[in-house]
Amino acid sequence: MKKAVAITAATLALFAAFPAAAQFAKPADAVKYRESAFKLMATHFGRINAMAQGKVPFDAKAAQANAEVLSVIAKLPWDAFPAGSNVGNTEAKPEVWSQPDKFKSGAQLLIDNVAKLDTAARAGNLDQIKAAAGEVGKSCKACHETYKKD
Ligand code: HEC
Repeated sequence: MKKAVAITAATLALFAAFPAAAQFAKPADAVKYRESAFKLMATHFGRINAMAQGKVPFDAKAAQANAEVLSVIAKLPWDAFPAGSNVGNTEAKPEVWSQPDKFKSGAQLLIDNVAKLDTAARAGNLDQIKAAAGEVGKSCKACHETYKKD
């Protein structure tokens, strides 16, 4: 009985943290959604990173536009990991659901680092963009090491 209460409380906490969980009709829809968000994330971050690494010429306006989009995208995948969505061709490891707090703080770290990148891009300062992009890249990598199959 006690256990049932604890599980209910945990479930409620999860729904509070992930309010959009109920928006997916099927678990597979959540997988599709988060994978699409990550693909867009990689595209927009990749454009900034290419400038940060000197692979394409620095274009302050383009950096700013991509950072603005990235700021929105960085918030999207996390609501799409509802309980029961470790299904289909997901590359997510079970740790996403067994260590939800750690996973969430990894997501928050990314959001914070992307906000710094956005500030640097708004300032049009390539040195700041390079530093901030480096930190964003580290947060992608750190999370993938624990939570994504390769
Ligand atoms: C807090 C954890 C976390 C962070 C931070 C994170 N990812 Fe991921 N990423 C995942 C997980 C988990 C998956 C697997 C999703 C699935 O397949 O269900 C994934 C999948 C992906 C994929 C594969 C999508 C596909 O085609 O299926 C790409 C690309 C990706 N991430 C890029 C990035 C980039 C770029 C960043 C940083 C800007 C980033 N991720 C930050 C956890 C994270």
